[in-house]
Amino acid sequence: MSFNEAFLWGSASAAYQIEGAVKEEGKGVSIWDEWAHIEGKTYQGTNGDIATDHFHRYLEDVALMKEMGLKAYRFSISWTRILPNGKGEVNLKGIDFYNRLIDALVEAGIEPVVTLYHWDLPKALQDEYGGWLSPRIVDDFRAYASVCFDAFADRVKYWIVINEPNIFTQLGYQMALHPPGMKDDAAFVKAYHHTALAHAETVITYKAKGYKGYIGSSIAFQPSYAASGSQEDLEAKANYDAIGPWWYMDAYYKGTYPDRGLRYYQERGIEFCPSEKDLALLQQGAKLADFMGINYYQTAMVASNGLDGVGLAGMNTTGKKGSQKESGIPGMYKFVKNPSVEYTDWDWAIDPDGLRMGLVALKERYDLPVMISENGLGAYDLVTEDGYVLDDYRIMFIKEHIKAIENAINQGVDMLGYMTWSFTDLLSWLNGFKKRYGFVYIDFEDEKLTRIKKQSFYWYKKVIEQNGVEG
Ligand code: BG6
Repeated sequence: MSFNEAFLWGSASAAYQIEGAVKEEGKGVSIWDEWAHIEGKTYQGTNGDIATDHFHRYLEDVALMKEMGLKAYRFSISWTRILPNGKGEVNLKGIDFYNRLIDALVEAGIEPVVTLYHWDLPKALQDEYGGWLSPRIVDDFRAYASVCFDAFADRVKYWIVINEPNIFTQLGYQMALHPPGMKDDAAFVKAYHHTALAHAETVITYKAKGYKGYIGSSIAFQPSYAASGSQEDLEAKANYDAIGPWWYMDAYYKGTYPDRGLRYYQERGIEFCPSEKDLALLQQGAKLADFMGINYYQTAMVASNGLDGVGLAGMNTTGKKGSQKESGIPGMYKFVKNPSVEYTDWDWAIDPDGLRMGLVALKERYDLPVMISENGLGAYDLVTEDGYVLDDYRIMFIKEHIKAIENAINQGVDMLGYMTWSFTDLLSWLNGFKKRYGFVYIDFEDEKLTRIKKQSFYWYKKVIEQNGVEG
């Protein structure tokens, strides 16, 4: 098998999706604490007030990770637990919580992989200057990151600065599905640029402090196919790449933006002209980043879309296969169904080989080590009468993706690790608790929030023991 001994077999989570305890031990209010309580914003009004109650049960969860033999665990720090107002006074109880969690992981022989930002912006910063819309966020973010480095970097060697900046800015500033609930292309482009600046400043700060670990950010990557060999569809794919994946990743990992994308925004009358100073900063950050985090769930098939064609549609949150509405950007591209692959109940394309293809493309474009920081299957799981969760479909999904990673390694890609999404079941931002990803089932109906190890738990334990999958 192609995985080296240091390969990080891991699993992941995010603070708002698991911690709960949103008002405890000095935590401040985040934009998600507020958003999830506005009627109609989340699936059936679900919120992270309790979530999996990980804040109180982290020892039980770490014990399960240890039992599984997990090599790495990726989790995020809640900014408002550390700095309740986003800046200023540090909440020592927040530091203490993450110290206890990190110590428990280290003691269990599990490498902590820490995400600094998984979408739960301090509400105080949103209220004061519009959060990611203002360049003021960059300094505040760097200061927050510094507090975390000073407190935890003696034990934490892997840092993910920002999780999926492309998703939270699109959903929050372009599609009004996440906070702050805006529909404004110019705001989206600006907010994204500020995430890239914050990432670069943070990477530079980490290196300037002399830490010897590894730092990067995680981008959600949907590699694409053109729907046909027609000139129009090939053009549509080039458009998608230029304002989609390459736009997002070039900013972080090259310190530039694709020309085709810049032209697109100019032609649409969207003012976006990053200064020389900003680009120099992005480039410095790009040079210092140690790896790219990639969250991979699916590929996209793209076709041409006329100027009067379909616009952006939200994702399927019904869990009814086939209910995804057509979505695209008029004059650029639209997403179409890929006839060669199966889809999940939420209409996400199941395409393991797309991961290999994407990883090879990343190697050619950026030539950096890659950590898969998320990959997994969202599904309905059932508990049998005798208390088992037989999720063989999840085993199949993860197995095929591991094989795809192995194939990518054999094609020369440098892989650091594989973090499945997720370790336990958790709260989905827009799908509530019904869409499950974990190796550990949680009964959300029962206030005891009992944990049940799924069939996939035992299977992944074996994968880790064998350092790969067979067959
Ligand atoms: C990623 C996020 O976009 O996808 C996770 O980083 C999220 O936080 C995961 O939970 C799965 O998305 P969903 O919508 O199926 O819960």
